[in-house]
Amino acid sequence: MRDDTVRDVMIKVFEKSFFLCTADTSYVLNITDEGWPEHLYYGKRIDEGTDPKETVRALSGKVSHPKGTTINYKKDSLTMLEDTMLEISSMGKGDLRTPFIVLEYADGSVTSDFLFESYSLNDEAVFPKGLAHSVYGDRKGEQLEIVFKEKEKDVWLKLFYTVYEECNVITRWCRVENRSEEVVNIKRIMSTQLDLDRNDYKMITFGGNWAREMEKHETVLTHGLFENSTYSGISSNRCNPFVMLTNVSTGETSGEGYGLNLIYSGNHYEAAEVSGFYKTRFVSGINPIDFAWKLEAKDSFDAPEAVMTFSDKGYRGISFNMHDFVREHIVRSKFKSSPRPLLINSWEAAYFNINESKLLALAGKAADAGMELFVMDDGWFKGRNDDTSSLGDWTVELKKLPNGISGLAEKIHKLGLQFGIWVEPEMVNEDSDLYRAHPEYAMSIPGRENSLGRNQMLLDLTNPEVVEYVKDSMRAVFKDNGVDYVKWDMNRMFSDVYSKVLPADRQRETAHRYVLGLYDIMETLTSEFPDILFEGCASGGNRFDLGILNYMPQIWASDDTDAIMRTHIQEGYSYGYPMSTVTAHVSACPNHQTLRNTPLDTRFNIAAFGLLGYELNLCELGKEELDAIRVQTSLYKAWRDVLQYGDFYRVSKYEWVTVSKDKRRAVAVTWNELMTPNDQYGVLRTAGLDDELIYHVFNIRLRHDLREFGDLVNQVSPIHIKKGSVLHNLLAKFVKLDGELEDYTVTGSVLNNAGVKLKQAYGGTGFNAETRLFQDFASRMYFIEAKDMTVEMALNVR
Ligand code: DGJ
Repeated sequence: MRDDTVRDVMIKVFEKSFFLCTADTSYVLNITDEGWPEHLYYGKRIDEGTDPKETVRALSGKVSHPKGTTINYKKDSLTMLEDTMLEISSMGKGDLRTPFIVLEYADGSVTSDFLFESYSLNDEAVFPKGLAHSVYGDRKGEQLEIVFKEKEKDVWLKLFYTVYEECNVITRWCRVENRSEEVVNIKRIMSTQLDLDRNDYKMITFGGNWAREMEKHETVLTHGLFENSTYSGISSNRCNPFVMLTNVSTGETSGEGYGLNLIYSGNHYEAAEVSGFYKTRFVSGINPIDFAWKLEAKDSFDAPEAVMTFSDKGYRGISFNMHDFVREHIVRSKFKSSPRPLLINSWEAAYFNINESKLLALAGKAADAGMELFVMDDGWFKGRNDDTSSLGDWTVELKKLPNGISGLAEKIHKLGLQFGIWVEPEMVNEDSDLYRAHPEYAMSIPGRENSLGRNQMLLDLTNPEVVEYVKDSMRAVFKDNGVDYVKWDMNRMFSDVYSKVLPADRQRETAHRYVLGLYDIMETLTSEFPDILFEGCASGGNRFDLGILNYMPQIWASDDTDAIMRTHIQEGYSYGYPMSTVTAHVSACPNHQTLRNTPLDTRFNIAAFGLLGYELNLCELGKEELDAIRVQTSLYKAWRDVLQYGDFYRVSKYEWVTVSKDKRRAVAVTWNELMTPNDQYGVLRTAGLDDELIYHVFNIRLRHDLREFGDLVNQVSPIHIKKGSVLHNLLAKFVKLDGELEDYTVTGSVLNNAGVKLKQAYGGTGFNAETRLFQDFASRMYFIEAKDMTVEMALNVR
């Protein structure tokens, strides 16, 4: 956050050299005599010194002779673009690396030569038209615009750099202006390019598949090109647009690296290339594989905004910068920093099999258990009993909800709960009134059988009429129906990409135009309904990106609600996204995706580190479980501000801690995957606490079920108890075994550095109230509160 070390001027200009400064980083570029933008440096903050010109000279690449087989930019010039660090690059003038921009001119040539024309510092920042973008707020002069002109053509390229100093983020995007009289074909356009003068990097990417989002992959870069990209039409669960490019030796808490993301929800492309000159180039932008844009005379094209951060404090430093940036400059909703409601969702409780009385019964239990928002998921609209029909027809199924949406909402409100509803506005089923009336609204290629995803087709959002249909149909659902929350789902990826409203030579614009249509819809509806809390979703995390977060402050992170899988998935998100954007639910056991059984408290302990909800049939739970949930919801409410908005630390493979910004409160969780006996030692070590403060650390005592010990009960019972017998179950009802209590008062420095030794874990040799039962999938939550005392004060007292 902004502090005294932040100097007033974030962008310093010395003739044609630019120093972009954040609190801890510098990004330096210079326009060469020939007019090329040379990238000089991006890293830890440096000082331009008393002689900035000399600093620039020192940072610039030096050449005195031609280099082997390299192309010289022009006669009598020693510029060899293939080995120059550049802010932008193209094809045709000697740079052989993956290019930033490729334009095809009317004469069929694809060579471009963009040279410097002018620059400005913008008080009012300019952002890409029709696209999601960062929030500049009331800043002034923290955007640099540099203008280039193609040497022979009347085509202009503008680069925009915006500096968010307090979170160490710089964003970049570009605009191409065709001021000529001829059509220009954009074959490729990136949003950012980062040339680095070394080759010892690794790229860390996050991808997987449905129910396995955000697996972390590390690839050490070697000669050639490494790509993280998709043409699924959405940012996708296969490869999230957030990546890290770090030194090979960088780890969680130390080492240098860059965090890179794109504010975009469509086909994206992130690539790193190690050149034959041992340099590394990173580019990211719209995936060129399914993109081209016919730029008419006098028209312009805007690329999405890219986000960059640097940290020398390892992945943790990168994550913190990204978290602050997303919270402050991406999320715009009025719910941005307000407590997010604790919800119950009907999906895993009943799937499509819902009706008013069932929903009210569930809502009643939820209200009683301390929940705040009831969400009616899929299945509420006309004819929707499974996933084969009805998408597109957004009128209520009266057989299920005889009193309509508003009738149900009213009853939910009377229970003291907010009311939320599920929609999937971008889709249509063949079996729907909409498709029967308007088959042309669906994206399909005339004369070709369409492939389906979850039995459904995409609506063609490149068609303005369809965009209006979606807006109107959603207005009808949201308006006057008592809707407080909307879950906006999207359950298929692109196939048969074709727009029936575009001519043949514009078909490759379809995927990007879809995103423009989508953002138009989201911008309209989120502005018209500012009091609705929107949650993004795409079969879980198939579209978890900064574009969606710009409209909707939170996203359903995965359809996988298994607590152990969630430790991996939520941790994956945490590298690039704050926990205030990640939703997580407690569900039934055996878990519906993995059939794994995990303790209820573990399901809560892990989900509570995201935005907590429940998604199970509360009506089928016994008193004991409902009582336990009541305790969980009240704990969550008491610690919600820390859990939702604290700084999230990945402490170890099996421990997270989240610390309030003022460092006075923290919550830690530790968990087990598979238990190994005779390994009973445990340490709770934290991170991020104030070394100087004194903290009280404690847990809530668990009450263990006798049955967890199986037939070992006979080791203490005077009579034989058969495992699973009526007697065993009866005893279990009345006899609970006290779990261990941990309670320490120590300094932050002890907790952060040494950690406290936890009670011995069960290891097959005995159990009492001093034993930490830490079997398979067990977990513990620890609460940490500053005493109103610093170390210094405590010493004086003594
Ligand atoms: C996919 C979502 O991820 C689920 O949570 C649920 O809303 C279903 N769609 C409903 O069809």
